[in-house]
Amino acid sequence: MKEQLKKIYNEVSELVKKAQTMADIDDIRAEYLSRKSPLNEIKKGLKDLPDADKKIIGPLANKISQDLEAELKAKYDVIYKAELDKKLASDRIDVTLPGKFIPQGRIHPLTSTIEEITSIFHTLGFSVIPSELSPEVETEYYNFDMLNVPKDHPARDVQDTFYTNIAQNVVLRSQTSDAQIRAMENQAPPIRIISPGRVYRNENINSRKNNFFHQIEGLYVDKDITFGDLKGVLNEFIRIYFGESRPTRFRNSFFPFTEPSAEVDVQCIMCKGKGCRTCSGTGWLEILGAGMVDPNVLRGVGIDPDVYSGFAFGMGVERLAMLKYAIDDIRLFFNNDDRFLKQF
Ligand code: PHE
Repeated sequence: MKEQLKKIYNEVSELVKKAQTMADIDDIRAEYLSRKSPLNEIKKGLKDLPDADKKIIGPLANKISQDLEAELKAKYDVIYKAELDKKLASDRIDVTLPGKFIPQGRIHPLTSTIEEITSIFHTLGFSVIPSELSPEVETEYYNFDMLNVPKDHPARDVQDTFYTNIAQNVVLRSQTSDAQIRAMENQAPPIRIISPGRVYRNENINSRKNNFFHQIEGLYVDKDITFGDLKGVLNEFIRIYFGESRPTRFRNSFFPFTEPSAEVDVQCIMCKGKGCRTCSGTGWLEILGAGMVDPNVLRGVGIDPDVYSGFAFGMGVERLAMLKYAIDDIRLFFNNDDRFLKQF
């Protein structure tokens, strides 16, 4: 029996030496050290042996179990470490490799300018009208007729306005002032609205002009609205938008739908004097047209000009963005050059 035990030990010990994987280790343990293994059968049979044999075979069997268990454990550790090293080597991350660039989308500077202007007018009590009251494809009726623009006004000329072939008298609107009419048709005074949108003009494109651009129209109609209110609101807007009181200039002007009318200039912030490309050397940049709503326009939408008065303005979004961010070419907004856009 002693011989049998030694044979088992030698056999299993040899197998442990040859084991290569953790699975081999598990197999050896299951076959040679489990309850049904030959070694265990010998231990189970001890009780039937004479006492003298018990004293020798019992401890020997236990020692062999313990030795084999220890050898298995040692081999297991070796295999485990080897497999781990292999895995670490193959999974190794080279932290010095350059990262992958993940380009991020951004808000277009014109969009953020519109959002900023809109929120300033919110704080001044103006709300944005629904976009369906401000269509880009518009009838001459809203773009011109209702705004008191005479039939022979040069702005109506195809040289200034894009006509469509959808129907006669359907144009790409040349100004957001159409929204004034639609707002007044839609609601009775008091009216205090703004309407941002895109407008189109048949222009030769250069650093200051594009054939489409953006405007924000404003309209305030109520009892006792005066030119003083207009000046107050616009000066307050300019102060908030530029973060300081900038010198402004209200210049006498003319629009068919306002009387009196004004154009508002802001001092050029990029002024390089005589050769300044931004303001053509004048030192001033026009940012909006404005005025008191013409009584004819009020009458046209059924508002009594003897009871109500109002002011309106239309500001150029690109101009305002150019002034704030010192951009000297309007075309930069539209040609999607990443080098420009990613600065915002
Ligand atoms: N619609 C005018 C323009 O595009 C601006 C304007 C709006 C003037 C409202 C007066 C009142 O030039």
